[in-house]
Amino acid sequence: MGMTQNTHDVLIIGSGAAGLTAALELAQHKRVLVLAKGSLTGGSTAWAQGGIAAVLDAGDTFDNHIRDTMVAGAGLNRKETVDFVIERAPEAIGNLVKLGVPFNEASGDLHLTREGGHSHRRIVHVDDATGWAVQEALLNAAEANPNITMLPGRTCIDFITGRNGEKFSAEGRVWGAYALDENTGKVEKHLAKATILAAGGAGRVYQFSTSPRGATGDGIGMAWRAGARVSNMEMMQFHPTCLYNLEVKNFLITEAVRGEGGHLLHPETGKRFMADYDPERMELAPRDVVARAIDDQIKRFGLDYVHLDISHKPAEFVKEHFPTIHEKLTGLGIDMTSGPIPVVPAQHYTCGGVLVGLDARTDLPGLWAAGECTESGLHGANRLASNSLLECFVFGEAAARDILNCWDELSDPPAIRDWDESRVSDSDEQVVIKQNWTEIRRFMWNYVGIVRTTKRLERAANRIALLRQEVEDYYGSFVVTTDLIELRNLLQAAELIVNSALARKESRGLHYTLDYPKTDDDAKPRDTVLVP
Ligand code: FAD
Ligand code: SIN
Repeated sequence: MGMTQNTHDVLIIGSGAAGLTAALELAQHKRVLVLAKGSLTGGSTAWAQGGIAAVLDAGDTFDNHIRDTMVAGAGLNRKETVDFVIERAPEAIGNLVKLGVPFNEASGDLHLTREGGHSHRRIVHVDDATGWAVQEALLNAAEANPNITMLPGRTCIDFITGRNGEKFSAEGRVWGAYALDENTGKVEKHLAKATILAAGGAGRVYQFSTSPRGATGDGIGMAWRAGARVSNMEMMQFHPTCLYNLEVKNFLITEAVRGEGGHLLHPETGKRFMADYDPERMELAPRDVVARAIDDQIKRFGLDYVHLDISHKPAEFVKEHFPTIHEKLTGLGIDMTSGPIPVVPAQHYTCGGVLVGLDARTDLPGLWAAGECTESGLHGANRLASNSLLECFVFGEAAARDILNCWDELSDPPAIRDWDESRVSDSDEQVVIKQNWTEIRRFMWNYVGIVRTTKRLERAANRIALLRQEVEDYYGSFVVTTDLIELRNLLQAAELIVNSALARKESRGLHYTLDYPKTDDDAKPRDTVLVP
């Protein structure tokens, strides 16, 4: 079977906000290859609604944004990372404006909306479809750049690792990745002097998630298998308000609806129930608090959903601020200008991931990482709304700058073996993949969701151990497909989440367990760092 070998200066895995930011910065000096699973717009970036947090108002300060981030993060944030990201936010927004992102304006300045956990208005946005505008601007710039090659339809399988005597590297040096060409079914090797992982989160490990179909934790699984540490995987964020609809699943109702005055109501009594959980911050309490409150109402009263209501605001105001959501709901027969929206919590963001420093370096020489697949110390135990796109811009750039700084120390990839398919055959039982995929997502939702217990986590761990054997046997016997690669990573992510959750003997931020309901009052709370 023929094999393509491609060598580039830098390989980037992922075409979302993190990957393309890095690509644009690097392409001023180097040749860059960007690989993406499925389409170039298939990541979470294109789906972001609310916006990007940055201190731009004269009455706001970096200290305020830093404090809000650390309060949401429940003591687990690394202060130097929080400072690093938040102080670079205004510049990141400036760069996006230069790229042509048409942020909403008010009286000549950028319009700032508000979201939960933010003490000030500081979210720049493009209506309620910020991510699409950002993705489009980044893609346009990348397409116009002759130093950037983008190959969609490539599912990366594993890093190419090996040893080499260069000064920069030690053991486990990364030299690029093996990727499945989704059209031809062939596995290519893509070699590079430096590799940046920007493959997004693992949200699809849960049955209900706002994340797109491809968020299967591939990057986290690849880095873990290659020997990188992964941290804080128990900190899975659940967004409080995903549309409840039997036909349309996974449609987010942005937090900005609450930011602009929306109320959460018991669907039968009409009571504003947040008064019972967080009377001061009400609907604008951090996400973990609001999601747990909704979960409690649903379980306690046997409800299918709660109501989110902004119909007390003028209809024109609602339509102007939320045109995408208004149009989508109208198509489903829901008029948000005159009545409430049924909502439920759903998985939304992976706070944990591959451990990186401020230079975006991972544990593995030759491998940098940025965006949702990482744990940089910004989010701690709970991400503040609209801080994640920001993290992608700041760390995408940090990775690029660090690579350029150490370029002279990086040597060329050595000869690398081809992907070996000699011992595998075509599978005649695709149903195994579907069955296992569904099973993982179900037990993760039921046993490792918003409220956990040790018993439920142990049940999940038992299921994972059984499935692991089955999936590894299958992987070792049959030709790889994207579904199989994703299943393997989904299971790996599930295992990392469960092991991290079992290791944390307290409740903190997004990790809430009935067996340890209190937060330890350590002066220095610990991250959950898993070592391969
Ligand atoms: P992504 O944008 O997810 O991109 C991942 C890339 O990796 C994709 O190109 C994908 O194809 C590629 N990839 C994955 N696996 C492989 C593989 N095996 N091989 C090759 N390529 C691969 N954050 C905010 O700050 N503000 C918001 O308003 C906001 N709203 C959101 C709304 C929704 C519905 C969702 C789901 C998330 C939202 N977030 C928001 C979170 C934010 O969108 C993400 O954290 C961010 O976009 C992640 O960007 P990324 O570049 O790390 O990854
Ligand atoms: C939202 O619009 O509610 C999502 C914001 C975010 O996830 O940061």
